[in-house]
Amino acid sequence: MSERQRVFSGMQPTGKIHIGNLMGALSNWVSMQEEYSTIYNVVDLHAMTTPYDPADFRQQRINLAKMIIAVGVDPDRSLLYFQSDVAEHAELTWILSVMTPMGQLERMTQYKEKADKAGQNLGLFSYPVLMAADILIHRVHAVPVGDDQTQHLEITRDLAERFNNRFGEVFPIPERISPEIGARVMSLQDPFSKMSKSDANTKATVLLTDTTDQIMKKIKSAVTDTGSEVAFDWDNKPGVSNLLEIFSYFSGRTIDDLVAEYATAGYGHFKVAAAEAVAEGIAPIREAYEGMSDAEVSAVMSTSAEKAKVSAAETMSLVKGAVGLD
Ligand code: TYM
Repeated sequence: MSERQRVFSGMQPTGKIHIGNLMGALSNWVSMQEEYSTIYNVVDLHAMTTPYDPADFRQQRINLAKMIIAVGVDPDRSLLYFQSDVAEHAELTWILSVMTPMGQLERMTQYKEKADKAGQNLGLFSYPVLMAADILIHRVHAVPVGDDQTQHLEITRDLAERFNNRFGEVFPIPERISPEIGARVMSLQDPFSKMSKSDANTKATVLLTDTTDQIMKKIKSAVTDTGSEVAFDWDNKPGVSNLLEIFSYFSGRTIDDLVAEYATAGYGHFKVAAAEAVAEGIAPIREAYEGMSDAEVSAVMSTSAEKAKVSAAETMSLVKGAVGLD
């Protein structure tokens, strides 16, 4: 393996990919390719922890892989594969699970939220251990994710430290990498809840497959706040602040610059300008996505999985040696 520091991240094939996924995670997946040795996953085993239909699931796995490539992850520079194709992810999960306190898993807020909605199961409960195994199996140094993954990264770091203290240094302690703008993009219809793949209200999310017309409509109907001034103030203007972050990301302009231009322009005018910037940024992604065939993407995924197996097997051999399974 090269001397570059290594990066891992994953995304679940559980719905349509939206601008929150792009701003919080995928944009760093792309930019980190410049300096790091990057490894990315469609985490299909994680997606099985909530109810699903196998035929849809098969297609969603491919669609997500395609979208990851469409936003700029280059399979010649990064490894991109289906988590389930490299069995070591599941194997390391077992070894980490015997050193994970139940109490720590019980405190995971994402578990509580998902169990309330979709029902409990053992896989959902131990989800963070599989996520830790994803990250540790390639002994990576950094993990680009949105803010909602903070607790999961903490448990990963704890497990790495606990393993190293007990069995000797095997794992680097991975750092969470989140962007300054867009680490937590909120719903367009409710600025107090996170933009989410599973939101039933289609007006709440802008998808990376949306047409210009759809994007214009969604952003124009985004919930704004009382008053008429465009200001960056999460406490008093959460709807406008969310739109300012989105506008800033897609226009490449600073929030101060946008506020200076639109402070008194009125919400209507501000939203049209923001929508145009988003539509312009999404168009090339949508076109790249539509131009790719399923077969082409499957081939890329298998080639990467073969390479990833080599790195994963190296780690498993160190782990097995350390714990006495050799
Ligand atoms: P997932 O599939 O829910 O989301 C994928 C990535 O998108 C980020 N994200 C957001 N960022 C900003 N604003 C939002 N509204 C928003 N919604 C989602 C997430 O933070 C994430 O980075 N548990 C992970 C998948 C996973 C993983 C891993 C990640 C499994 N193994 C190993 C990193 C490393 C998840 O459910 O992401």
